[in-house]
Amino acid sequence: MANKSLSSVVILISGSGSNLQSIINNADNIGIKIDCVISNKIDAFGLERAKNAGIATKVIDHTQFATREDFDQNLTQHINTFNPELIILAGFMRILSAKFIDAFAGKILNIHPALLPKFKGLNTHQRAIDAREKFAGASVHFVTNKLDSGEVILQKSVAIEANDDALKLAKKVLEQEHILYPKAIQKVLQR
Ligand code: GRF
Repeated sequence: MANKSLSSVVILISGSGSNLQSIINNADNIGIKIDCVISNKIDAFGLERAKNAGIATKVIDHTQFATREDFDQNLTQHINTFNPELIILAGFMRILSAKFIDAFAGKILNIHPALLPKFKGLNTHQRAIDAREKFAGASVHFVTNKLDSGEVILQKSVAIEANDDALKLAKKVLEQEHILYPKAIQKVLQR
């Protein structure tokens, strides 16, 4: 029987889902129940991870919708069937419409592979190397209508070594993301 003290969450993915895997592995420890993993891509490996963990999955293929708003409306309807406390973006590669974000204000978390407010957007690791930063890192933040600009919940920095290229750095940061995201989720739920 489901434990009523667990917080219900829905996780959105688009790809490999290594952060999803870490959240699955830590779900009991941090007191969450993952009600559904939703992917906008049918071939996202994260869907296999969810299925292997016995978690419900749903594909909502964005290419099947005429507009971003239509896709987001469908996504909203599906999420609402679970009435989750949090919506966790874990490598979800779609910009969400203002309507979607407003509907779930204060409940959407994202992990970004940079030390925000530095390096919002894409190609964060190469940009950090090019800027001769000493540290890269990851940030878990609330999602607002301004890209990668919501309140930061937790961050972890990683030293950039002289021989790091973007790939090496991404790997080091990703390892830290896996530790950081479950902690940040727990922190938000304890507020
Ligand atoms: C991570 O680097 C995360 O910071 C970014 O997308 C990537 C997702 O990786 N938002 P994975 O799908 O969790 O392996």
